[in-house]
Amino acid sequence: MRIGILLSGRGSNFAAIAASIRASRLTGVEIAVVVSNVAEAGGLQTALELGLPTAVFVSKGRKRAEHDADVIACLRAHQVDLVCLAGYMRLLSPHFIAAFPNRILNIHPSLLPSFPGLAAQEQAFDYGVKVAGCTVHFVDEHLDHGAIVLQRAVPVLETDDAHSLAERILAEEHLAYTEAIALVAGGNYEIQGRRYVKRSR
Ligand code: GAR
Repeated sequence: MRIGILLSGRGSNFAAIAASIRASRLTGVEIAVVVSNVAEAGGLQTALELGLPTAVFVSKGRKRAEHDADVIACLRAHQVDLVCLAGYMRLLSPHFIAAFPNRILNIHPSLLPSFPGLAAQEQAFDYGVKVAGCTVHFVDEHLDHGAIVLQRAVPVLETDDAHSLAERILAEEHLAYTEAIALVAGGNYEIQGRRYVKRSR
């Protein structure tokens, strides 16, 4: 399975996926291209160091549909089967979703449906939850919304601040994304409404 990574920032989730592939914790999967909408994204530098193909389509000031058309064309040119959003801070257009039906994953640093949107870890900390976590889900046309592949819980400690909580959530994200990609690449599941359901063999 050829995956396309979309990122906007430091790219630690992307680096964790790449490390899992290198260490054969994630098999049958290769990274076909790393795409960013931000030219200065740290994740792009990591991709270059790893010798992976990269592409930049700066989104600032462009119409969403036009920008997305460029990204879709790039993903198709690299024969991408599965798109993985890894800190891609941009809503996808309906056209993008339709181009890869149930073939786009996202990782979000909260136990959805709690705390969608920006700074989810801080939202959870400020709310006073006792259990936080992360979610890998299929992407639909709504923000942080599609069918959930898996979640990992992270207890909130008395000693936490928003930063320390975010760091522990991030460590779980790095495990969760590899696990979710392996599940989806394995293909042994179906999506029933909002539910990701493993098929019994
Ligand atoms: C991660 O915490 C990811 O869950 C979050 O952005 C961070 C990117 O970090 N994504 C979202 O909030 C999407 N709604 P990274 O660039 O180091 O992977």
